Amino acid sequence: MVQGDDAGFQALIEKITRDRGFRCSSYKDKCLRRRIAVRMRAKHTPTAGEYSTALDADPKEYDRLIRSLTVNVTKFFRNWDTYSVIRNTVVPELWERGEPETRIWSAGCSSGEEPYSIGILMHKHAAERRESARLETIRILGTDIDADCLGEAERAFYADTALGDTPPALREQYFPQIAGLHGMLPEVRRLASFECNDLLAYEPPLQDVHLILCRNVIIYFEREAQDALFSAFHRALARGGFLVLGKVESLLGGARGLFTPVNARERIFRKI
Ligand SMILES: C[S@@+](CC[C@H](N)C(=O)[O-])C[C@H]1O[C@@H](n2cnc3c(N)ncnc32)[C@H](O)[C@@H]1O
Repeated sequence: MVQGDDAGFQALIEKITRDRGFRCSSYKDKCLRRRIAVRMRAKHTPTAGEYSTALDADPKEYDRLIRSLTVNVTKFFRNWDTYSVIRNTVVPELWERGEPETRIWSAGCSSGEEPYSIGILMHKHAAERRESARLETIRILGTDIDADCLGEAERAFYADTALGDTPPALREQYFPQIAGLHGMLPEVRRLASFECNDLLAYEPPLQDVHLILCRNVIIYFEREAQDALFSAFHRALARGGFLVLGKVESLLGGARGLFTPVNARERIFRKI
């Protein structure tokens, strides 16, 4: 943790916000301090002031710091139980709605594993119904603040570790092996597109969205930012649209009046 030198720490986070547009004040203080401390140790800079100088001297270190602050850990079908409920409850309902365009937004999608996991479930449902032509109407948008991650999502080639929670039958069908990596099946790859979006700007990139997944992202945000984000999600969702949070995340305060639980255990909610 960055301790003691509080004025120095405040100056450092103001600098990061100014230089990189990374809205530090909306992230949990404890989390920022812990992650900055790791980078300070790695650069052998014991004070926030020295680390600030190191950032100016080394743009690559700045990139490493931002990468560490954003926490990009993810994998396909992370928390399979949640995807199981999505597959059995959410996907069939989205399909039955029969919208001219079904809009799905994976907010904080990291390197694409989450939006492609949903893409696989939609693809599978279409195949089972023998309605694959309707996949043309499915639009999945993955957004993240980290442009490098989005580049990986666009490339859509994954190491074995990314497939950790993927059932063997889905692995076989959806991930052709290419040069030791797992490529995303093109029919699923083309359902998804990616763009940069800072959730803390509270400007959803899509409107009338039928399903928003924002998992393992708000956990890093301060309470006020979480409240503002839930309002933004409520605005962006279509009537009856779904919101899925991470397993350790919850709706708090006023947001409880905006959504009703579909499956509280799996953190699946519906817009009221
Ligand atoms: C732990 S990953 C979660 C990935 C995926 N949703 C999952 O659950 O596996 C958190 C992601 O949120 C992104 N993130 C952090 N702050 C963000 C912000 N202000 N706007 C958009 N994305 C952000 C990070 O870049 C990272 O890719």
